[in-house]
Amino acid sequence: MVTAFRISAALSVAADLGVSDQLAAGPRTVADLAARVAADTDTLHRLLRALATVGVYAEQQDGSFANTPLSEGLRSDVPGSMRPLARTLTDRALWAAWGHLGHSVRTGDTAFKALHGMDVWTHREGLPEQNAIFNDNMAALSSLVADAVAAAYDFSGLSSVVDVGGGKGVLLEAVLAQHAHLIGTVFDLEHAVADAPPPGASGSVASRWAAVSGSFFETVPAADAYLLKSILHDWADDPCVDILQTCRRALNESGVVLVVETILDRPGHEVETAFSDLNMLVLPGGRERSEREYAALFDTAGLRLTDVVHTSTRMSILEARKQRSQ
Ligand SMILES: C[S@@+](CC[C@H](N)C(=O)[O-])C[C@H]1O[C@@H](n2cnc3c(N)ncnc32)[C@H](O)[C@@H]1O
Repeated sequence: MVTAFRISAALSVAADLGVSDQLAAGPRTVADLAARVAADTDTLHRLLRALATVGVYAEQQDGSFANTPLSEGLRSDVPGSMRPLARTLTDRALWAAWGHLGHSVRTGDTAFKALHGMDVWTHREGLPEQNAIFNDNMAALSSLVADAVAAAYDFSGLSSVVDVGGGKGVLLEAVLAQHAHLIGTVFDLEHAVADAPPPGASGSVASRWAAVSGSFFETVPAADAYLLKSILHDWADDPCVDILQTCRRALNESGVVLVVETILDRPGHEVETAFSDLNMLVLPGGRERSEREYAALFDTAGLRLTDVVHTSTRMSILEARKQRSQ
C-alpha cells in the first residue's frame, strides 16, 4: 500500500504513451513499441516489466508484450476507458497537491489551492491539454453510469432538463436518448462547453440539444429539471448551498433538482467513495456526503429532499423540490 503510488505513476506513463492502443492489434516487440510511442527501448522495457508483475501487460515467451484484460482498460476506444483517468496524473500540479495531503488534514485547507494559489478549475482553464484530459475522463466515467441513471428516474412529467456542470454532456445525451419528449441543455464553464461537441447529428438527440456557457454561482438556463452529476461533491457546504440556490431561483413550482452522486452510507462502494472523498479534499476542496448531509444542504438552500433513487450503479439520484413555504 505504501508504494502503491509507483503503480499509479507507471500506469499514467503507459497511458500517456498510448501503449495499450499500440497493442490493440496484438503483441509487439519492445523495440517496435518504443519506436511507435517515441520512448527509450530499455526504459520502456523496465516500465512494461514492472506493470506486467501486477497484471497490466504480459511478456510473451519471445520477449514481446501483449495486452491483458487489465491493460485493455487503458485503450482509448473501450467503453469507460481508464486512459483519461490515468492521464490526469500527468498533471504535475495534481501530484504535488496529493503530496500535500498532510497539509489538508492538519488545517482543513484544500491542498491544491494552498499549494498553487488557485482552484483546479482556474488551473485547467489555463492548460487546454489537461482540461481536455479531465473532460474526457469525466465523460468516460459518466458513460459507465449514464444509461442506468437515465433509466432509473421517472422523467415523464418533465419537459426540459439542464445538465448543470454537464461537461461533455454524456448524462444529458443518455437522458435525451431514452426520453424522446425531453429537450435539454448542457451548461458549463466556457472552456468546458468549448470542449463538448454536440451529439452525432444522425440521432434525434441533436435537434433537442443546446449548449450554454456560464457559472452556476450566477445563473442557470430555465428548465423544469436540473441535473447535477458529480457537482456538489466538488464543493464545501457553503458553495453547494449557493449552487442549489441558483437552481432554486430558476425552478418553477413543480420543478425538480436531481443530484446524482455516490452516497457515503450506501453499502457496496465504500473504498471508492471514501478515497474519492480524500480526492475532493485535496483537489477541488469538496467532500463526499451521506444522504442526511445532502438533505441538510437542500434544507439550507430552501429545497427539500423528496426522494432517493438508487441506480444499478454506484450512483444514486437525490430528488429535491422547492420547500412548500417558498
Ligand atoms: C466533476 S465534473 C462533472 C462533469 C459531469 N457532470 C459528469 O459527471 O461527467 C464538474 C464540472 O463542473 C464544472 N464547473 C466547475 N465550476 C463551474 C461553474 N462555476 N459553473 C458551471 N460549471 C462549473 C466543470 O467544468 C466540470 O465540467
